[in-house]
Formats: sequence, C-alpha cells, structure tokens
Amino acid sequence: MTDVEDRVFVTGVAGLIGSNIARAIHATGRTVIGIDNLWRGAKRNIQDLAESKRFQFRHADVATDHAWYRDMNSSDRLIHVADIVAGIGYVFSNEWGVFQKNLAINSSVARIANEVRPQQLIYLGTACSYPKELQRSVESSKLSERQKFPADPESGYGWSKLIGEITPEEFWKGGKCLESRSARQITDATTQSL
Ligand SMILES: NC(=O)c1ccc[n+]([C@@H]2O[C@H](COP(=O)([O-])OP(=O)(O)OC[C@H]3O[C@@H](n4cnc5c(N)ncnc54)[C@H](O)[C@@H]3O)[C@@H](O)[C@H]2O)c1
Repeated sequence: MTDVEDRVFVTGVAGLIGSNIARAIHATGRTVIGIDNLWRGAKRNIQDLAESKRFQFRHADVATDHAWYRDMNSSDRLIHVADIVAGIGYVFSNEWGVFQKNLAINSSVARIANEVRPQQLIYLGTACSYPKELQRSVESSKLSERQKFPADPESGYGWSKLIGEITPEEFWKGGKCLESRSARQITDATTQSL
C-alpha cells in the first residue's frame, strides 16, 4: 500500500538531474511520483526505478496537463525540476522560446502548488540567474544569496529561472501560504551533479 505521508512528486524526472534526485529519494524508502513530457528526457534514465512498486511515472506536460497532480495532497512534497534547458548553444539560439516556455511551466507549477498545498515545494534554480558580471571568470568567488540582485542575468534562460524562483513568493503576496525553497544548481567543469 502506498504511504501517502512519504510521497514525493518530482517534475522533469526523466532528465539528467530529475532522474538522479528521484533515485536518491527512492533510496530513502519514500514513494516517488515522477512527471515528464519526454521533451528531452528519456525513459531509459529511469528504467531501474520503473521496476519498483514505490515509483510511478506520469507522462504529462506540467504547463498544460492536469491529471498528473490529481491525487497530490498536503502531505506530499513537490520537487520541481522540469524546465527547458538544452545546452548553452540551444539556450542562446532560442532565447525567446526558452524564456516563455519556462515562464509557462513555472507559473503553472506555482499555481498548482498553491491550489493543492503540498507540505513543501522545492524549485531547482541555476547559477545562470546571477548577474552576468559575476559569471565572467571561472575564478569567481563563492556566490551568496544577496548577490542575485540587482538582477542582470546573461540570457533569457537565466531570467526565466530567476522569475521561476520568485514566482511562488508572488502567490504568497496574493494571500496564499506555502513553504517553498529554491536550490540553485551550479555546474562547472568539475561539478556535474547536485
Ligand atoms: N544540467 C545543469 O548543469 C544544470 C545547471 C543548473 C540548473 N539546472 C536546472 O536543473 C533542471 C534540470 O536540468 P537537466 O540538466 O536535468 O535538464 P534535462 O533536460 O535533462 O531535464 C529536464 C527535464 O524536464 C522535462 N520537461 C521539460 N519541459 C517539461 C514540461 N513542460 N513538462 C514536463 N516535463 C518537462 C524534459 O523532458 C527533461 O526530462 C532545470 O530546471 C535546469 O534549469 C541544470
């Protein structure tokens, strides 16, 4: 029987980071419900999980579909990893598409989270949301939370992810109350995992 106290929903589960987050959470004994539209992710990334009774895959677009969160409730947690990211070349040659799709994805997930009120919402951000001046050199010192603002990300991707971080907070101002956190993934030549 599924223990609803221990369920974690993971969006973008078939991607690089989502599949590893799902695997790590599953290893703690929790039930994982993974959502992905397979735009870039692949089922082979979660093949091992698919054999488990504590894993369920839902093929859905989190920006437009509704069935994927039909049974989510206030005892569940939601880790939101899905966004459009496909390498630096793709990001800079598709800035508008990346920007507007990520806004659509993140505002939809924030709206769902505020409707369903899972006990926790974690959003995966990126170092690309820091001002571009702080990203010029690989010698950059450790970045702090305060350095996010004044905002000046280099790309539409960085802007969309920064707005993704503050989107749930905008719902709070609308009178809703939800615990949410952003974790910022920082990738360099030597760091490839969260
Ligand atoms: N890989 C990195 O170095 C890096 C660095 C910083 C931040 N991030 C962030 O981590 C997250 C995951 O990155 P990744 O490298 O694993 O990318 P990825 O492309 O491997 O994973 C993203 C997943 O989201 C899915 N997806 C996209 N749009 C969707 C939608 N509308 N509905 C459902 N699923 C959708 C894709 O199919 C894919 O499986 C992103 O939010 C990205 O901004 C990644």
